[in-house]
Amino acid sequence: MEETIVDIQLADIILDESIYPRDNIDHKRVHVFEENLRDGFTFDPIQVQVCSNPEPSIKKIWYRILDGAHRWTAFKKTGQIVIPAIVKTLNDADPLLYAAKQAIGPKQLTETETRHTARKAFKNNSRLRSSDIGKAIGRSRQTVDLYLADLRAAIFLALGLKLFRLDKLGIPQDRIAKRLGISKRTLGRHLAKMPELIKGPKSDLAKGFTIPQVAKKHGWSEPMVWSQALKGKCDHKRFKDLQWGLRTWDLWNFMDCDKRFGDEWPGRIPAQLVAHILYFFSKQGELVFDPMAGGGVCADTCLAMGRRCWSLDMNDRPDTRPEIEPYHWDIKSKWDDVPVVYSKDKPDLIICDPPYFDKKDGEYGKRSISGLSRENYLKFLERFFLYLKKISKKKTRLAFINSDWQDFQNCPAIKEEASQAILIVDYHKILKKAGWSLTHVIQAPMSSERFNPGVVAAMQKKKILGVVSRYVMILR
Ligand SMILES: C[S@@+](CC[C@H](N)C(=O)[O-])C[C@H]1O[C@@H](n2cnc3c(N)ncnc32)[C@H](O)[C@@H]1O
Repeated sequence: MEETIVDIQLADIILDESIYPRDNIDHKRVHVFEENLRDGFTFDPIQVQVCSNPEPSIKKIWYRILDGAHRWTAFKKTGQIVIPAIVKTLNDADPLLYAAKQAIGPKQLTETETRHTARKAFKNNSRLRSSDIGKAIGRSRQTVDLYLADLRAAIFLALGLKLFRLDKLGIPQDRIAKRLGISKRTLGRHLAKMPELIKGPKSDLAKGFTIPQVAKKHGWSEPMVWSQALKGKCDHKRFKDLQWGLRTWDLWNFMDCDKRFGDEWPGRIPAQLVAHILYFFSKQGELVFDPMAGGGVCADTCLAMGRRCWSLDMNDRPDTRPEIEPYHWDIKSKWDDVPVVYSKDKPDLIICDPPYFDKKDGEYGKRSISGLSRENYLKFLERFFLYLKKISKKKTRLAFINSDWQDFQNCPAIKEEASQAILIVDYHKILKKAGWSLTHVIQAPMSSERFNPGVVAAMQKKKILGVVSRYVMILR
């Protein structure tokens, strides 16, 4: 097909190093081109690809070079304004490999350049085959295999670790394969290597290395090392080893979130809170379901406490939190009769920590239920509690975490209106309507230290009554 040649402003073209196969511009070659240009020599058009703007606020089209970096440099050096170019659409072709193929036409890549290009291409897309990379850079498949051996081993290990975590949490194998984008065969190969994967950390733990040391040495997450270190121990001993003081009464106050479990996340709950729910209301090996999992505190704590855990959230983080499967409880869709993640298994315990009404709606994103009106938020929960009932068995317990909502940040206590608030008793009404019976209300207050002294002083002056109470309602 005939390709259109257009004149493009030199200033609109960039040399994107991520798709440039050579280590450096060859200045001798540029110099020869400069002289050719001055002598009136006509060059073949360079090849470019439309690319995203390096400065997103500037609305303008940019092009990156696929072929012709030396010509482009020579044009600039001789004071030209435009250069003839072909704008390529590559469809599925890898731009770096395309650029490498063009580059070896006039001048072979050096050994270092082919190695760098192969590794760069593989890092961008680990699904590329050695034979395809080899064709682009002019090397055999075997040579490319050698270039990539260590990268492939690291990917295999990283994948193995992810897979191990998902397997430990009791996620069924077909879902693990889907989530990690691998075939059942690859999954089987990894599972067979699990005993080998455990050997190193196990022996280091036996030698007395600390949990962070073992985690760092073997690339495991700390909760995964805990799951190994605490294997076979009873819940009570696990609490002791984790240095979580066990609360005997129904007041679970924790000064801070235990940073070892879960990620920094808006609305993160302390792992100690989850651990207490697990301690009192579940047994080891049971299945916990966390439908709005956020930073993954629940899954991490389940690893340490020897429970299985399925987690869902609308925020998808496949690289760092593959165990949290993406799912959006969309108020406009029908999920009321669909088994949870299409599975026949039913949870023993549901830990439900939804976004509190109207709080953090800016942080979770537009589709979050925290942005709903008061009426729709309550309607959503009514429907959601019914759904949780449907996916439960007779003995399933629901731990619902929430707090009273009042417009306390703006309103003096004396002026607060019942119609504006959602109190814990309102949640109870809709839980009851959905068939859930309350067995416990546990106080798990939030730390008041999160308020800065300026805010506190202003609240006191205006006679605003703050809310730090938070409750865990246990229902059957
Ligand atoms: C309070 S946070 C959970 C925090 C979590 N327990 C932790 O400690 O990290 C609530 C989560 O609900 C998720 N969420 C909100 N609306 C949702 C929806 N409609 N579907 C799925 N997830 C939703 C948010 O992305 C957020 O991560």
